Amino acid sequence: MKKILITGGAGFIGSHVVRRFVNNYPNYQIINLDKLTYAGNLLNLKDIEQNSNYKFIKGDIVDAVFIDNLFSEEQIDSVIHLAAESHVDRSISNPLEFVMTNVLGTVNLLNAARHQWKHAYNNHRFYHVSTDEVYGSLGETGLFTEETAYDPHSPYSASKASSDHFVRSYHDTYGIDAVISNCSNNYGSFHFPEKLIPLSINNIKNNLPIPVYGKGENIRDWLWVEDHARAIDLIFHQAPAGSTYNIGGNNEWTNIDLIRLLCKIMDQKLGREPGSSAKLITYVTDRAGHDLRYAIDSSKLQSDLGWKPSLKFEEGLEKTVEWFLNNEEWLQSVTSGNYQSYYNDQYGKS
Ligand code: NAD
Ligand code: DAU
Repeated sequence: MKKILITGGAGFIGSHVVRRFVNNYPNYQIINLDKLTYAGNLLNLKDIEQNSNYKFIKGDIVDAVFIDNLFSEEQIDSVIHLAAESHVDRSISNPLEFVMTNVLGTVNLLNAARHQWKHAYNNHRFYHVSTDEVYGSLGETGLFTEETAYDPHSPYSASKASSDHFVRSYHDTYGIDAVISNCSNNYGSFHFPEKLIPLSINNIKNNLPIPVYGKGENIRDWLWVEDHARAIDLIFHQAPAGSTYNIGGNNEWTNIDLIRLLCKIMDQKLGREPGSSAKLITYVTDRAGHDLRYAIDSSKLQSDLGWKPSLKFEEGLEKTVEWFLNNEEWLQSVTSGNYQSYYNDQYGKS
């Protein structure tokens, strides 16, 4: 039985990856390692927690001794590494946390893999799940390809760029079988409501202002989270060692157009007068160092591994809104506790 360590499996994307692997690969033992920070929630995995090929371990990737012991005790075969501090705004107020988890945590995992697997690196795989933000910001035209030079602007993207470089260096220096993917903005179920789409859904539902940074003209390329999980599955199983793949939705939206569409869907779903949710749109101070535009060229992934996005954005967004409206208990659980103090610090008291 192959033992795969998935880090950050209690987070947004990690929970979709864990679910997919547990359900699709009964011959794999899936170990979900997660510190359960504010962003990690075991409710995200309620439906699979009893499966015999699934095990949860609470732990911190920054603790090198703990990570070394875990690799030897559990005899880990491969790693899919998603654990990270993932929110750009938090990286602006607390950059060091991002260095610790995203850089040091990744290097700790690489070191444990290097020691544990040294007799046969080619039988093991280290997969780092990364972001398109490492490439920086595009102007009005062009797309990020796998050859685009790194140019991160936020402490978050700088920490992810650094961890990508470490992963590549361990492949080049020690021969570890490492692969990296750089994905665009995800959306879907279990998305933590600090990020634009779930935060806006939550605010519209509660008749609170929808904070739009700057003029709302920044562009993101949105991908349904289950399409990302499917890409990770393909890359984990089929990508050549040392390779990189870009993953994206071919689906660019300005923030303000996206919010207007969301308001329209929410009006329909909540039985509100057309146009009423849009009245909540509130322009607020721009994010420092705000990247203008991200857009991914995923043609390598499409031609090499036959992947393509499965959902039209309008359909995916509607499904997402329905999920949030039907999962009030989940939303309550993640917005209780520290959420309100984070929200007040970031947006001022509502
Ligand atoms: P998330 O913030 O929802 O989840 C991160 C998870 O990591 C949480 O469960 C958290 O508890 C865990 N974690 C944090 N620090 C840890 C530590 N020190 N030790 C162990 N676990 C720890 O993040 P997400 O949005 O699901 O992103 C997952 C990964 O995908 C990240 O590496 C992120 O950079 C990358 N990514 C995200 C997006 C996106 O749109 N969200 C897009 C591309 C790439
Ligand atoms: O591109 C991939 C990245 O996408 C991931 O690596 C990150 O982990 C993920 O958080 C996401 O980063 P963004 O900064 O693009 O996502 P966020 O949802 O925070 O913001 C999306 C856009 O919306 C961005 O232009 C900022 C803007 N925004 C965001 C928030 C939270 C607002 O206008 N208002 C808000 O309140």
